Amino acid sequence: MLTEGRLAFGFSEQSMQYPRLNAQNWAQWREPILLLEAQIYEPSRQDTPETLEGIICDGHGVSLAAVEGDRLAGFCLGAPLEHFAHVRGPAEDPVRGSATALYAADTLVDAHYRGQGIGRELKVRQIEAARSEGFKSVCGRNRAGLANAMWRLNTSLGARAVHIIEKDYQDGIEPDICIYYHMALPKP
Ligand SMILES: CC(C)(COP(=O)(O)OP(=O)(O)OC[C@H]1O[C@@H](n2cnc3c(N)ncnc32)[C@H](O)[C@@H]1OP(=O)(O)O)[C@@H](O)C(=O)NCCC(=O)NCCS
Repeated sequence: MLTEGRLAFGFSEQSMQYPRLNAQNWAQWREPILLLEAQIYEPSRQDTPETLEGIICDGHGVSLAAVEGDRLAGFCLGAPLEHFAHVRGPAEDPVRGSATALYAADTLVDAHYRGQGIGRELKVRQIEAARSEGFKSVCGRNRAGLANAMWRLNTSLGARAVHIIEKDYQDGIEPDICIYYHMALPKP
């Protein structure tokens, strides 16, 4: 729904596009993705270019961009949980190995575009795509404090904390608490 608030920010839902990110368009979006990743996440939450490429180019992944014109406003990335065995949360998750869960790795919106519903739209579209592509759940990690907006958004979409992990980021920023969550998806 087009709201006055969104028009006041100068973008309309018609002008924001939400294309899938994949191996076909990774090269096109690589630079702006790496730029936003470095601008927005503190170093301990940044993924390497190789990790981002691996997630986006995974044929079973669900990654989307928010694009206005040729400008990247945000993105959300996800790939099967099995790829994240080295990450606390997925590492201990008994669901890993069943090939039924999508791990939501990164979600961000450029500060210029925040508070206009883009983050919610990205997540709703990712969840719907995951559901229709056969996943039974979406899981992920949110840092308490720095990712409070994301945690509120995820809980409003059905996320429930299943594991609280302390002192995983180890970057001197408090709180150093990671919330690992599951979000059950209804059958397609
Ligand atoms: C989290 C983030 C993606 C939200 O993007 P956004 O486009 O501003 O979000 P939306 O406008 O769609 O708002 C969605 C919800 O987020 C929450 N939210 C947004 N801004 C918030 C804020 N400043 N404080 C608290 N909650 C906030 C609200 O629950 C909001 O709910 P509503 O839809 O009922 O209003 C964005 O804040 C961001 O990029 N944060 C930095 C990166 C990060 O930490 N990502 C999560 C870690 S993976």
